[in-house]
Amino acid sequence: MHVVYLSPGFPAEMPLFVRGLAQIGAKVLGVGDQPAGALAPEVREALSDYLQVSSFGDEARAVEEVRTWLRGRNVDRVECLWERLMYLAARLRETFGLPGMSRAQTAIFRDKEAMKQAVEKAGLRVPRHGRARSTAEAWAAVERCGFPAIVKPIDGAGSKDTYRCNDKAEFEVALAKVRHIEELSVEEFIEGEELTYDTVCADGRILFENVAWYRPKPMILAQNPWISMQNIVLRDLTQEMPRPGVQLGHGVLQALGFQTGFTHMEWFRTPKGEAVFGEIGGRPPGARLVHAMNYSCDIDLFRGWAEAACHGRLSQDTGKKYNAAMIFKRAQGDGIVREHRGLRELLQKYGPHIATIELTPIGEPKRDWQKVVVGDGWIVVRHPDLATTMQMSERFVNDLTVVAG
Ligand SMILES: Nc1ncnc2c1ncn2[C@@H]1O[C@H](COP(=O)(O)OP(=O)(O)OP(=O)(O)O)[C@@H](O)[C@H]1O
Ligand SMILES: [Mg+2]
Repeated sequence: MHVVYLSPGFPAEMPLFVRGLAQIGAKVLGVGDQPAGALAPEVREALSDYLQVSSFGDEARAVEEVRTWLRGRNVDRVECLWERLMYLAARLRETFGLPGMSRAQTAIFRDKEAMKQAVEKAGLRVPRHGRARSTAEAWAAVERCGFPAIVKPIDGAGSKDTYRCNDKAEFEVALAKVRHIEELSVEEFIEGEELTYDTVCADGRILFENVAWYRPKPMILAQNPWISMQNIVLRDLTQEMPRPGVQLGHGVLQALGFQTGFTHMEWFRTPKGEAVFGEIGGRPPGARLVHAMNYSCDIDLFRGWAEAACHGRLSQDTGKKYNAAMIFKRAQGDGIVREHRGLRELLQKYGPHIATIELTPIGEPKRDWQKVVVGDGWIVVRHPDLATTMQMSERFVNDLTVVAG
């Protein structure tokens, strides 16, 4: 099995997927924009070959460079788990006549209006929505959606340029703030909890599924730098909290005809218990959620994905053993990290349930949480019982302070 893999060195988790491919016996042909010498040693080790393209910005040129490089060689798949390069991956597949997502299929997973239309057409619940390329279109869309409304980029990420607007005045202010965005999605604001539904699929079969619960909602987190994010991977998907999302997820995957690879869907759970579609990516979730899934089952989904993509199966035991709560800490104060306040007590109390803990070491500068997703700390606590897991998680949120100054 020969796999062309786009951007093996970046972003952060790509090397782990490349390693997964090598572990299941695939020959990985890496294509990146970094010089080979800039790749981490473990990435270079896992690659059978590497091409540095002139730029990912010029798609047509990148395709030509890859074509020249591969001339006379056999390739079975083109894989890409970085959202930014998904169209290029699709174009390469089309060029070489390979299976996997085409450009048309990719568009459904990249364009927040196209995906909502496709999901809606299948009779599934999506927020009222509209596409806007001008101020006039935005006003027309919000007229249909009503207030409170959400304005966001059509292909945004990380809750950037995303605003809740409670009335016309706030909508006007938000429109002024997003004037630099070419195309917007305007939506009905959905109240409730926000969760994920993630899968690994092969040939349209779901081999692994997962629900994680964001606390608080990502948009609140993006706007409040002092909050520690929690994301809780749930052990039992038959429980009331995740159940409607799992059902919605099955419908969405079917409606979109998803075949092989990772998916990452976000959904809202309204106070009445209804699941409302948020968005879906044809890629793994970021922000270390794959790690948290691994901790919930004691498996390696980086390798699991590789096996699913190349051989159509996932042979590890994917039964969930734990709820796994992941917490990201943001240091308080500015400058150098001086103290991990509360850490000793927490380690004493919860030691056996801490799957991993990494904090910015004392003496090092505080990190920029807008650039480093885990901020100044990454902790995973796990337990078979959800209430216990949430209690521990809260303790790490409230009783651990990374102090900078
Ligand atoms: N219709 C909506 N109702 C309520 N909240 C919303 C809605 N749309 C977006 N949000 C909030 O804004 C956040 C960002 O929106 P969305 O997930 O669509 O974009 P994103 O920036 O692509 O996120 P990601 O980083 O997950 O790719 C959501 O996680 C949610 O908290
Ligand atoms: Mg999102």
